[in-house]
Amino acid sequence: MMINGLLLVVVEMVIVVGLPGFPSVEGLRMDYYYMSCPFAEMIVRNTVDSALRRDPTLAAGLVRMHFHDCFIEGCDGSVLIDSTKRNTAEKDSPANLSLRGYEVIDNAKEQIEAQCPGVVSCSDILAMAARDAVVWSGGPAYDIPKGRKDGRRSRIEDTINLPPPSFNASQLIDIFGKHGFTAQEMVALSGAHTLGVARCSSFKQRLSNQDRSMDSSIAKMLSRTCSRGDNAEQPLDPTSTDFDNAYFGALQGKAGVLFSDQALFSSPQTRGLVNSYAMNQAMFFFDFQWAMIKMGTLDVKEGSGGEVRSNCRRIN
Ligand code: HEM
Ligand SMILES: *[C@@H]1O[C@H](CO)[C@@H](O)[C@H](O)[C@H]1NC(C)=O
Ligand SMILES: *[C@@H]1O[C@H](CO)[C@@H](O)[C@H](O)[C@H]1NC(C)=O
Repeated sequence: MMINGLLLVVVEMVIVVGLPGFPSVEGLRMDYYYMSCPFAEMIVRNTVDSALRRDPTLAAGLVRMHFHDCFIEGCDGSVLIDSTKRNTAEKDSPANLSLRGYEVIDNAKEQIEAQCPGVVSCSDILAMAARDAVVWSGGPAYDIPKGRKDGRRSRIEDTINLPPPSFNASQLIDIFGKHGFTAQEMVALSGAHTLGVARCSSFKQRLSNQDRSMDSSIAKMLSRTCSRGDNAEQPLDPTSTDFDNAYFGALQGKAGVLFSDQALFSSPQTRGLVNSYAMNQAMFFFDFQWAMIKMGTLDVKEGSGGEVRSNCRRIN
């Protein structure tokens, strides 16, 4: 706890002062809601805590939803928008791949609106909820800058920008590079797969391809899962509700579930990073939190570039 507390203070100082190479995003501040909605952060944390006490697997849903939000059109809450008669939204793309946790965001939003209407954006609520889900699951605690605005666009066709699980390491490095991430940050972020599950449809290709990067016992396990159908779920690592570095250990044992996971160990470009994170959980936590803070600032909208939605599912 003490160490976590210290780390928080250090992270906070670094952000305020500005790290060389770290994107200081205009308009975003740690204390953005300090005056305008002082309990926003606490409301989100309490809402996430009570939702995860009922269903610990929702932590994965929240972290993944934040990732999808930020990789499509920037962190602007676009992933939360429902489709309408005239527009098919991101969430109805096949790439939504079972996103989960919308109710948690709605619940927090409702409570926050009751206290400070029109102040706290849905994109900020999602960013805070993802962070709180990481902490709740045993991962690193870190402060995030706030002040994002919500976007007014959510289109199914934009979801092609998400990396598919068929990507190899160079393709992953490439697509994350387009968003300004280094290979190291990409591997750290992939460590989010320490939480959650994948459905058979996301890895069954590996079985028909007889993917050699896969250990034979994991191949058997994946086949068994797929015998229950395309939507049958397989934990992405052996401890799927604990945020730890077991994911990287699994990759070392050729027991990654997605081709794109195992590719990080198969490729000499990224294998060293997998080994480091498998050996040193503190290093993984440290790199992960920085990469998450960076991901949370991708193309954020401020000022007139966006709005604060009153209902996260609808443009105002
Ligand atoms: C490196 C490229 C990535 C690829 C190719 C990828 C792909 C996938 C796929 C295919 C699934 C399974 C979906 C399903 O079958 O329902 C999944 C799950 C998940 N992904 Fe990723 N992902 C990537 C990076 C990330 C990042 C950067 C994060 C967050 C920081 C993340 C967080 C998650 C989480 C938490 C789950 C589990 C979701 C759940 O249990 O509901 N992923 N990912
Ligand atoms: C995801 O997309 C499918 C269509 O591909 C849709 O049937 C499903 O309801 C969507 N899931 C969510 C959570 O919106
Ligand atoms: C990754 O896939 C691309 C496209 O299929 C291919 O050109 C490249 O050689 C592959 N890289 C590795 C390291 O396998």
